[in-house]
Amino acid sequence: MLGIVLAAAFATSARGQETAAYFKANCASCHTIGGGRLAGPDLKDVTRRKDREWLKSFILNPQAKITAGDPYALQLLEEARGVVMPQVAGLTPDRVDFVLDLIEAESALEESQFKGQQISMAPFTPADVTRGMALFTGRDIPSAGAPPCFSCHSIPGIGGLGGGFAGPDLTLVFERLGGRPALSAWLQAPATPMMQSLLRNAPLAPDEIHALTALFEDRAKHGAPVQAGVAQLTFSLLGLGVAALALVLFDVIWKGRFRAVRRSLVEASKL
Ligand code: HEC
Ligand code: HEC
Repeated sequence: MLGIVLAAAFATSARGQETAAYFKANCASCHTIGGGRLAGPDLKDVTRRKDREWLKSFILNPQAKITAGDPYALQLLEEARGVVMPQVAGLTPDRVDFVLDLIEAESALEESQFKGQQISMAPFTPADVTRGMALFTGRDIPSAGAPPCFSCHSIPGIGGLGGGFAGPDLTLVFERLGGRPALSAWLQAPATPMMQSLLRNAPLAPDEIHALTALFEDRAKHGAPVQAGVAQLTFSLLGLGVAALALVLFDVIWKGRFRAVRRSLVEASKL
């Protein structure tokens, strides 16, 4: 009861509102309060699980606690399947205190505003898998313009080239990242540097995440990873072909230019 009163008081204060906006922009993509885990753990009652001083220094520099071999931090890391919480921009010790106040207040509520948008759990259909494949190969371009996944990732069933190799093969990613809710949350807020920078300005829409997750579930059930050897060879042979063609083209263009330059020199010398 007291908790609810305190929560209401904090929520309506100017600092509470500013802190809530900060949490929404910087923490809510990875954490809910009472809505289950996303990339990071559900923060409901986190101040009861661990003391404030520890939480404060962890939030300010998560990697440092892990590097120092702190057992609780290592356990969190394992539960997060190796995803390290990034150092969040704009945090000061004061702000962390406000954020922890906010989490405490929101935890006391029956339903926090940060329960998170619930990810669709509608069963996957074959049409979802087909759409997922279209998104993966770029036949269907994601609404915000994310680049096609297959330019960097392979997955069975693409045919011919098998996909790119700048990123890992995604055949078994559904299992590796912990199943449907975890993978959906990951695609909503990827936790690795390359994917973060790719999707920051081109986030995938919920229906696109639904379709891609359907594809990944289907491939994890039926597919064997693309054989890197064979596919990679096809890919690099194609690369060589393109390079050779480019060289020939260049040669032609360059010759033309050279002649043009010479001609103008000759003309000039005639003056
Ligand atoms: C990119 C995802 C991501 C963002 C953004 C993020 N976190 Fe985390 N957070 C994690 C992960 C993952 C862990 C689990 C520890 C680990 O593996 O590093 C974690 C752990 C925590 C923990 C410890 C949880 C526990 O159960 O003890 C707290 C507290 C926390 N984060 C608070 C925050 C706050 C506050 C923000 C915003 C200022 C934030 N996080 C932003 C991913 C994130
Ligand atoms: C420009 C290359 C590139 C594109 C395009 C790309 N990715 Fe990635 N992806 C990477 C790299 C590199 C990694 C390895 C981790 C990192 O650095 O982010 C990765 C990692 C991942 C992972 C985590 C894999 C794991 O095992 O942990 C998933 C899931 C993923 N990408 C999904 C996608 C999806 C879905 C798309 C298309 C919407 C996509 N990627 C487009 C380069 C790319």
